[in-house]
Amino acid sequence: MYLVVQGQLDMEGALTARDRVGIQDFVLLDETTETAFLSNLKKRFSEDLIYTYIGTLLVSVNPYKELDIYNKKQMDLYMGVNFFELPPHIYALADNAYHTMLTEFNNHFILISGESGAGKTEASKKILQYYAVSCPSTTLLDTVRDKMLMSNPVLEAFGNAKTLKNDNSSRFGKYMDIQFDSQGDAVGGHILNYLLEKSRVVHQNHGERNFHIFYQLVQGGEEDLLHQLGLERDCQHYNYLTQGECAIVSSINDKNDWKTVKNALNVINIDETDINHLFEIIASVLHLGNFHFESNSKGQAILNSNAELRWFSSLLGVNAETLRKGLTFRWIEVKKDEVLSPFTTDHAIYARDALAKAVYGRTFTWLVNKINESMENTNSTRKTVIGLLDIYGFEVFNLNSFEQFCINYCNEKLQQLFIQLTLKSEQEEYEAENIEWEPVQFFNNKIICDLVEERHRGIISILDEECLRPGDATDLTFLERLEEKMGSHPHFVTHRLADKMTRKTLERGDFRLLHYAGEVTYCVVGFLDKNNDLLYRNIKDVSLHVSYGIVATQFKSSLLKLTEILMAKEAWYVRCLKSNESKQPGKFDEALIRHQVKYLGLMEHLRVRRAGFAYRRRYDVFLQRYKPLCPATWPHWRGEPADGVEVLVQHLGYLPHEYKMGRTKIFIRHARTLFATEDAFERCKHELATRLQAKYKGYKAKGEFKKQKEAATKIETCWRGVQARKEREKRAWAVKVIKKFIKGYMTRGEAKSTDNSEYLAFVRQSYLNRLKDKLPKTVLDKTTWLTPPAVMTETSELLRKIHSRLLVRRYVRGITPQKKAQLQLKVITSNIFKGKKDSYPQSIAQPFEKTRISDQDINVKVLQMIRNEQIKYSVPVIKYDRNGFKPRPRQLILTQTAAYVVEEAKIKQRVLYTSLKGISVSNLSDGIIVFHITCEDPKQKGDLVMQCDHLFEFLTKLSAIANKQNAIKVVQGSIKIEIQAGKESAVDFTTGQEPMVYKGKNGHLMVVSGPRLN
Ligand SMILES: Nc1ncnc2c1ncn2[C@@H]1O[C@H](COP(=O)(O)OP(=O)(O)OP(=O)(O)O)[C@@H](O)[C@H]1O
Ligand SMILES: [Mg+2]
Repeated sequence: MYLVVQGQLDMEGALTARDRVGIQDFVLLDETTETAFLSNLKKRFSEDLIYTYIGTLLVSVNPYKELDIYNKKQMDLYMGVNFFELPPHIYALADNAYHTMLTEFNNHFILISGESGAGKTEASKKILQYYAVSCPSTTLLDTVRDKMLMSNPVLEAFGNAKTLKNDNSSRFGKYMDIQFDSQGDAVGGHILNYLLEKSRVVHQNHGERNFHIFYQLVQGGEEDLLHQLGLERDCQHYNYLTQGECAIVSSINDKNDWKTVKNALNVINIDETDINHLFEIIASVLHLGNFHFESNSKGQAILNSNAELRWFSSLLGVNAETLRKGLTFRWIEVKKDEVLSPFTTDHAIYARDALAKAVYGRTFTWLVNKINESMENTNSTRKTVIGLLDIYGFEVFNLNSFEQFCINYCNEKLQQLFIQLTLKSEQEEYEAENIEWEPVQFFNNKIICDLVEERHRGIISILDEECLRPGDATDLTFLERLEEKMGSHPHFVTHRLADKMTRKTLERGDFRLLHYAGEVTYCVVGFLDKNNDLLYRNIKDVSLHVSYGIVATQFKSSLLKLTEILMAKEAWYVRCLKSNESKQPGKFDEALIRHQVKYLGLMEHLRVRRAGFAYRRRYDVFLQRYKPLCPATWPHWRGEPADGVEVLVQHLGYLPHEYKMGRTKIFIRHARTLFATEDAFERCKHELATRLQAKYKGYKAKGEFKKQKEAATKIETCWRGVQARKEREKRAWAVKVIKKFIKGYMTRGEAKSTDNSEYLAFVRQSYLNRLKDKLPKTVLDKTTWLTPPAVMTETSELLRKIHSRLLVRRYVRGITPQKKAQLQLKVITSNIFKGKKDSYPQSIAQPFEKTRISDQDINVKVLQMIRNEQIKYSVPVIKYDRNGFKPRPRQLILTQTAAYVVEEAKIKQRVLYTSLKGISVSNLSDGIIVFHITCEDPKQKGDLVMQCDHLFEFLTKLSAIANKQNAIKVVQGSIKIEIQAGKESAVDFTTGQEPMVYKGKNGHLMVVSGPRLN
């Protein structure tokens, strides 16, 4: 969790990291000695930690090796993060300046200083890259960024050179404004350049080179181009490239750089023609350098280089002869007339070099203007700027000339600015805060600035005077004038003015300045010329209107302007230190660094930062961070922040001398007090974190629950919606279906149409469905058949038939052969009795038995007697005597040929089927059977009257056995019987309440059946 708030203390980030490698902020060093300072720097440097803060000032030590700390990831890391929360970095400074600019809507500058080779230009490039990558952008603006980035290789090609100190030393001062709109987009840029070291064009010290562009052109230029410019691909061929005897350097790839520069020229919108002119000028300078003069017998200079002259004049479009004259003669006034006076070779060479410098110098200015044009933002909306000042560092060579004088003066001015903006302002803060403090002694270099620049009395004024003075002014007369004017100045010495000891270290033509950064001895030779920037007038005619002026004064006023520009802005500082002279990675040259630390005023800066109070912070910010340490201030302090801080530090046990309460800030004297507080905070933070964590977990769980509940409600709502929609659809569908149904119903009688087809189909289907469940289950069931709708009448009838056939078939298939035989018998019964005898219907359901008396129940004697005949059926009967109709129980046995009436072991009567002429029964429900027997033989007994309980079974069997169907008669009322031959009687049938059989008074057998059922 992020407890840190915006505007957080610079100290804390460093505090937490202080045990890692060294201390990230020198302000927190326990002792402010140079030794402690250097040892911290060294400790960090050995771990490749090249950046360290002094408050908001960034100290950078050149590592002389590529570090993996400038990638996109690192940029992202530092973007928008508070200054002191991450390890010190140039990106942190860049980002902080940027965000302060955006929030406070004011202008800033970043002053990058340090001696040659310390890494100023690299630092400024890193800052520019950071802005190019990390600022918000639109595609349109990318071109501005590209131009800003690409201006670097171009300016470096034309303005940088290899020196003994630095393979890519900036030979001009550069101040670049980056303009941002209110959204923070980089929308434009502007460059101011200062004092290009033009002398380098014509002269380089041993081990140094001319400006890179010359070598790039010769090494990398395309064949065609070189041909067109009359150049050879050989640096050795050109005087201006070879004086330092190191045209080719392993660390520099001129060919590649050429490509980069060409590409960059395109990006910054310089058109082809201009690019061509640019290279023509560069080439012309090379040709010019090869102009060779000889002297004739009179000692007059003669230009012998016709080829070079031709190339030069054709490339620059000047008249060759005018040029020749210009380089070998000068106009002098003789009695108000101007006459040409010949040059000596020395003069001619001087004139040649002056021309070369002027041409190159103007070209450089032109280029800067071009770049400015291309980066210019014409939009008039208000913008804020961040200025980047990458200006030459303090320089001390064995031989120091006018250029070093100017450069070192520039550094004095910047130091003065630094003093004004920081050292003084720091002390002013104490005043503003009403804090008592002991003033810190720091060396104010104003005295040196004055020495150089004071009107009428300063060195520059004297130089100008000498340059303009009529008469024979020389560098030495200039020195004399200096001695006269400066005689007693504590920071100025010459051979003449010096004491014995010092004199030994000075030449007669030298003067020495005691700069804030150290002593520098300047050789006056060339001062006047260089200051004049002299071009003989006729040469000026050649090269158009070269304005010449007083260089040092111009430089002075441009520095003045720069100071004004900077004073109006908020300052940020990057102090670059050179780790060693030999450009070796990882080498920490302590003496060298100690010297730089000293002259860059770092210790003073540090001391003032800590003057008495190592640490100060606005009350609200201090309280915000440390309030958990005191119950009275945690979690909220309701009163004034200052009072809260007072309560807090009392609680922490700060002693009165350890801190001071300012107007808006608390000042803490020793770092250790703060460390203790910070340690306590760290411990407390852990506890707090646990508490917060628990709270947070609860909160999160609650939140989670709420979220789930919300989700559930949402889903429910959604689902209900879905349901409702479904329901609606269903209803709409139902309405449609019902409507159709009704319409179908109404038109059901009409011919099939779209309106009723569905309805009819439904009717059909529904009828069939219902029918399926209600089919008759048995063959006999004739009532159960669903009444069909009109359309189905025909079908229904067909189905009914099919179904009944199906049932019949099923029934038939289910019948056994025995049952079949029985049924066949029942058919016979039916044929005989159906509709004729009352008791018939009840008999139908009673199945027929095989026999009613088993063979065992028949007497063995009887069986013996009829053993030749197979017994087919036997049944018990009541036989009525012929005389008196007495009932006698008998067995009646049917064989193949006859019916036997048996009583126990006796066969009482044998009736041959052939003699059985008829069989009569009544139509009532009695069981009386009468056998009519042919009676020719008087011995034969008469008709046989019997009663049998199984009348239908018995008679059916008999008819089947004896084929007597047709002999059976169903008689109503009375049956005549022949008792004996010729003797007749009758059986009379009636119905009554009770069935009975008796002999009637008329001598007939009276048979009464139960009441008739129908
Ligand atoms: N941060 C860095 N990381 C790696 N190498 C660096 C860094 N800074 C500087 N260097 C190395 O040091 C060399 C010199 O740096 P730079 O050109 O920035 O110096 P300078 O201070 O601009 O010097 P001058 O005053 O001569 O222009 C670079 O070419 C590079 O090799
Ligand atoms: Mg540089």
